[in-house]
Amino acid sequence: MAIKTLGVVGSGQMGNGIAQVAASSGLEVKMVDVNQDLLDRGMAAIDRSLERLVSKGNMAEDDAKLAKSSIEASIGLEKLADCDLVVEAIPEIPELKFSTFSDLDSICKEATILASNTSSISIDEIASHTSRPERVIGMHFMNPVPVMKLVEIINGKDTSQEVSNAVISVAKSMGKTPLSCRDSPGFVSNRILMPMINEAILALQENVAEPEAIDGIMKLGMNHPIGPLALADLIGLDTVLHIMKVLREGLGDDKYTPAPLLIEMVQDGLIGRKSGKGFYAY
Ligand code: CAA
Repeated sequence: MAIKTLGVVGSGQMGNGIAQVAASSGLEVKMVDVNQDLLDRGMAAIDRSLERLVSKGNMAEDDAKLAKSSIEASIGLEKLADCDLVVEAIPEIPELKFSTFSDLDSICKEATILASNTSSISIDEIASHTSRPERVIGMHFMNPVPVMKLVEIINGKDTSQEVSNAVISVAKSMGKTPLSCRDSPGFVSNRILMPMINEAILALQENVAEPEAIDGIMKLGMNHPIGPLALADLIGLDTVLHIMKVLREGLGDDKYTPAPLLIEMVQDGLIGRKSGKGFYAY
């Protein structure tokens, strides 16, 4: 089950990162989105990231050029018909994911593996909208994709061992470290990460410390690269809130109740880096 062509649905922060890393590892990449403006923004982000890698001496200029030329950006899922693997990286709206997988299922060749980069939606539920649940799997990349080593591999109840092995192998060829888990709310990464971020927001709300102190304590005391509030700003507070709700509903435990301050900030549009302001101003 050799994977040579990779399709990416969505050219946003995660999608363009996945396309870049896949192209840098020698795969032929087709990245699709719903309009040219989004594709242009995705390609511009890839340019910036490749330039950064070249300027730091982490990539040869010729390799960056080759990677860029291996990415074909276009509108519409039809372009992905012949891909060996398609990774979906569209917004975390369940109905949107379900209809996208249903469309991919009818467009893509029989052998295509359909993967989702979802951070919280059930892989089994996504798979149930296709006629090939054994070829549906979670491939959860971390932000920023070019830098972070992990790919969390989520095996649905019907995912075949052959598909799991193929996806593990392609993740390794992309220079990533794949680690596997079963389908469960928040998988492993967000089941552990999000309650920590939520707790940091509760500490802030209860005036236990200023944001800089909360983040500094976790950075210096726990050796985290950035503090939980800065990380919430990087991920997006809307996403943090969404995943807390998934954990609370899916695991049925009040300990996952989102912090009132988190709900308030999302209502006020203070959702982090992408809005220019969250716990910090950007
Ligand atoms: N493209 C290419 N290179 C990049 C880059 C990008 N987009 N972003 C950062 N880099 C490189 C920098 O050039 C720099 O390279 P050198 O080491 O060669 O100098 C290196 O990465 C470190 O970057 P910076 O010096 O700019 O800043 P930093 O030391 O603060 O590191 C960071 C940035 C890697 C993002 C670091 O802050 C970090 O690890 N943060 C935590 C990230 C994290 O936890 N991500 C997971 C989020 S959860 C998620 O994604 C899943 C979910 O479902 C919500």
